[in-house]
Amino acid sequence: MADFDYDVLVIGSGPGGYVAAIRAAQLGLKTACAESRETLGGTCLNVGCIPSKALLHASELFEEAHGGTLAKWGVKVEGLSLDLDAMQGQRKDAVKGLTGGIEFLFKKNKVDWLKGRASFTAADTVEVAGKSYRAKNIVIATGSSVTPLPGVEIDNKAILDSTGALELAKVPGHLVVIGGGVIGLELGSVWKRLGAKVTVVEYLDQILPGMDGEVRKEANKILKKQGLEFRLSTKVTSAKATGTGVTLTVEPAAGGAAETIDADVVLVAIGRRPNTEGLALDKAGLATNKRGQIEIDHDFATSVPGIWAIGDVVPGPMLAHKAEDEGIAVAENIAGLTGIVNHDVIPSVVYTMPEIAAVGLTEEQAKEKGEIKVGKFPMLANSRAKTNKETDGFVKVIADAKTDRVLGVHIIASVAGTMIAQAAQAMEFGATSEDIAYTCHAHPTHSEAVKEAAMAVLGKPIHI
Ligand code: FAD
Ligand code: NAI
Repeated sequence: MADFDYDVLVIGSGPGGYVAAIRAAQLGLKTACAESRETLGGTCLNVGCIPSKALLHASELFEEAHGGTLAKWGVKVEGLSLDLDAMQGQRKDAVKGLTGGIEFLFKKNKVDWLKGRASFTAADTVEVAGKSYRAKNIVIATGSSVTPLPGVEIDNKAILDSTGALELAKVPGHLVVIGGGVIGLELGSVWKRLGAKVTVVEYLDQILPGMDGEVRKEANKILKKQGLEFRLSTKVTSAKATGTGVTLTVEPAAGGAAETIDADVVLVAIGRRPNTEGLALDKAGLATNKRGQIEIDHDFATSVPGIWAIGDVVPGPMLAHKAEDEGIAVAENIAGLTGIVNHDVIPSVVYTMPEIAAVGLTEEQAKEKGEIKVGKFPMLANSRAKTNKETDGFVKVIADAKTDRVLGVHIIASVAGTMIAQAAQAMEFGATSEDIAYTCHAHPTHSEAVKEAAMAVLGKPIHI
């Protein structure tokens, strides 16, 4: 390897970076991964997917006991109380276990962890903690951070980003969430279930932009029923910490009279932006696009030979599983194999209760492309959901009117995140709605609703 230290040097150990590093090492390449955090795993394992799901799970259990669901099933709990310290302990434990697991996998696969912030000094060289490393291939997997909102300064005391909102030591009286997207709805749900009043302020006229129109409306209806309050078509112009709380000034998005809202804490969740600051991209001959992302081609190669990029730092949905798949593909491309990610079939899940999941085109997007057929099946008519009293939601299958090929599947259901996998696999295999309709599904399962929605595309569901 002459004067190269590594075949592959990955910058960032999130789901994109750690997976790329492990796959590269598995393929026999000498690999290192630079990470500036104390622990491996990136946003997802440390302050994202995993801790948020720990709190979503725990708060769901509390809500079931406190809201009377368990009692309805004959499980009576007396002297119920919330031990937030214990709940937060479980969150930390989940993070510790999984981030430690990545450290173990690095050792097992002989990936060197270079501890510290990496910055380019040349196209094939980076500096980490004062030491210079030359690599044949460098993969940028530096992820993303919260997008700041002018006039609203995050102090992680009263005005929080998602990390601050995961770590609250007490349940706030009134939490105002700025942004009715994925983070706002998931973390808003956590604190609502634990007893906070939650108001979501959303700039657009509906929550969850990018999702299917009908799903957005239904999700809004269900979450309102759960007690979340929504101020749609509203913009926040300022938020000032008062010492005892926060005073927000809001006005209609289209302009109009301003008013104030008092909150105990505010969560800013208006999107995330790529992390490229401090990388000294210019020294490598790279630049970012207008959105701050690093542009890549189909193989994840940047404009500079030997430099690749994946995950949240490149265009596309900011999702952990997308980053992971790109991590595998980029390592395979570097090793001379053919690594491909089908970006048309990336599922997405919002882990509220019920969950909201989607893959492929929305009805609006599919209509723009041509003639379609749509089949819908309500969870109310699914025997398992009805038995479990989880009747909110539906499954919608969108198929091409001529070929019957499935173009998109949208699900609101308690276990939508699990149900969407079969839809993604069907689409990956080029399935028609008839293929799904004639696939035997176990009874009684929520997944039978996917089969019935596919049958509805052909106009022949059994149970409605
Ligand atoms: P990241 O995970 O952001 O990792 C990048 C790493 O690079 C970081 O650890 C950072 O410290 C390090 N780094 C950056 N610059 C440097 C440098 N110069 N030198 C060294 N290290 C550097 N996605 C899902 O699919 N499902 C979910 O349920 C989900 N929940 C989420 C909940 C929250 C609250 C948040 C904030 C995000 C969530 N996401 C979820 C999104 C998911 O976390 C990201 O899409 C994913 O982590 C992106 O992976 P990545 O590898 O591109 O980057
Ligand atoms: P988001 O893009 O999902 O939602 C941001 C919301 O804020 C949008 O509805 C937008 O219209 C609104 N908004 C923007 N500016 C505003 C303003 N000034 N005032 C009021 N509303 C405003 O971003 P979010 O929730 O911050 O999440 C960031 C990323 O993290 C997402 O892209 C998502 O992919 C990822 N993520 C994924 C999760 C999952 O897969 N379950 C969970 C959490 C995050």
